[in-house]
Amino acid sequence: MKKKRYVQVGIGSRSRMFTRAITERYADRAELVGLCDVNMGRVELRRSDLLDAGYGDVPGYHADEFDRMIAEQKPDCVVVTTRDCDHDTYICRAMELGCDAITEKPMTTDEAKCQRILDTAERTGRDLRVTFNYRYSPTRTQVKELLMSGTIGKVLSVDFTWNLDTRHGADYYRRWHRNKANSGGLMVHKATHHFDLVNWWICSTPDTVTALGRLAFYTPDTADKLGFDRRTDRCHTCPHLADESCPFALDLSAKDFFRRCYLEQEQHDGYFRDRCVFGEDIDIEDSMNLAVRYRNGVHMSYCLNSFLPWEGYRIAFNGDRGRLEVQSIETVYISGDDSVPGETVEEKSYVRVFPHLADPYEVPLATAKGGHGGGDQRLLEDIFQPDPEGDRFRRAAGLADGAWSILTGVAANRSMAADGQAVRVNDLVSGLPEPDHTDMAD
Ligand SMILES: NC(=O)c1ccc[n+]([C@@H]2O[C@H](COP(=O)([O-])OP(=O)(O)OC[C@H]3O[C@@H](n4cnc5c(N)ncnc54)[C@H](O)[C@@H]3O)[C@@H](O)[C@H]2O)c1
Repeated sequence: MKKKRYVQVGIGSRSRMFTRAITERYADRAELVGLCDVNMGRVELRRSDLLDAGYGDVPGYHADEFDRMIAEQKPDCVVVTTRDCDHDTYICRAMELGCDAITEKPMTTDEAKCQRILDTAERTGRDLRVTFNYRYSPTRTQVKELLMSGTIGKVLSVDFTWNLDTRHGADYYRRWHRNKANSGGLMVHKATHHFDLVNWWICSTPDTVTALGRLAFYTPDTADKLGFDRRTDRCHTCPHLADESCPFALDLSAKDFFRRCYLEQEQHDGYFRDRCVFGEDIDIEDSMNLAVRYRNGVHMSYCLNSFLPWEGYRIAFNGDRGRLEVQSIETVYISGDDSVPGETVEEKSYVRVFPHLADPYEVPLATAKGGHGGGDQRLLEDIFQPDPEGDRFRRAAGLADGAWSILTGVAANRSMAADGQAVRVNDLVSGLPEPDHTDMAD
């Protein structure tokens, strides 16, 4: 079998999952031929880790040399795991230079960048895969199956609450995510997962979004109230880390990966992974409420808070033959801290069906071990070694899914800025392709 040639751009925490997949589990069919980042320290670190693992010498390139990397290495596909705001640059350039692309979520951060990706894909005919690992976790696939099989009839409305806790949730306020220009805020960066799930679950796309949001907790005022009066701009130099008086502090020197990947590479780009979560310059929200109308008539109320005591979600689908309720509690972690990210806590999670005029019942929970509710490994399998029989749940997400999922968040950002005015998603970009819901819609 001829191996598919991959290069990676953005060699931070998330990129490790793809490096491992290409160089280990799927090495019989995939080959890593280039690594690229603005920070050459992280590139060299990955190269030396690969050499130590016996993989061989993978050429490294600075971000300015992206075109040269493509010309020299002739990859089939570029894997993009940079900051969210840079995804469009590499997706579009990869396509223009004749490559397909795989991008981490969110596909991009605003409507102008989204339009550029849509236009470039149309012009070049290249393929884009958006890695929505959340679709692949068994519980979420189980929800898809229950809805597809008509368990509660036709879905009429959805009530969706997602909680981020003061460990994982707080982490978004430590680094680049904390500025809307980098991440689109949590409405785009995080909720793209949730909006994609809803689009896929109910086989529809958003029409109108009304949103309210504010920064309520991760503020200097909260830090003052909690008594962090000696705080500095980052944990590494903060007396509250040294005397262990701040439960929000992150010690970059305490974990091998944090130290090697971030602390020891700061000299190259000044990227501090441990900025104070109560910093003055944070401009994203931490408390958001939305009302979304979908094109199939479904209404959704959605709520996201990122300073809560537990992490996970509750969702209820109200159908014309009953109600489906799901609760999923997730394990506590910080991205890159060596623990498995976002595993399902089975004993606290459930799937319940409440049929009209009949007794409610519990459906045995489908779960799996591994990152993001077991979704990560299933996603990788579907990318690198897909089932030749296909996937009846159509979990592989592309350009249309990537675009529709961010546009709910982009519309929410606009609505929040306009004090809750309704925003029509279709007005944001032109030429939006329809997601493929064949055989799945009711
Ligand atoms: N699907 C998931 O569950 C999941 C989980 C974590 C992260 N992610 C996504 O993965 C991506 C990376 O996140 P991360 O946690 O690894 O962040 P990170 O900060 O650890 O890594 C980002 C990397 O991008 C590099 N970079 C910054 N600007 C660049 C530019 N202009 N050109 C090239 N490289 C640049 C940085 O130097 C860094 O090495 C994000 O888009 C994030 O949303 C997805």
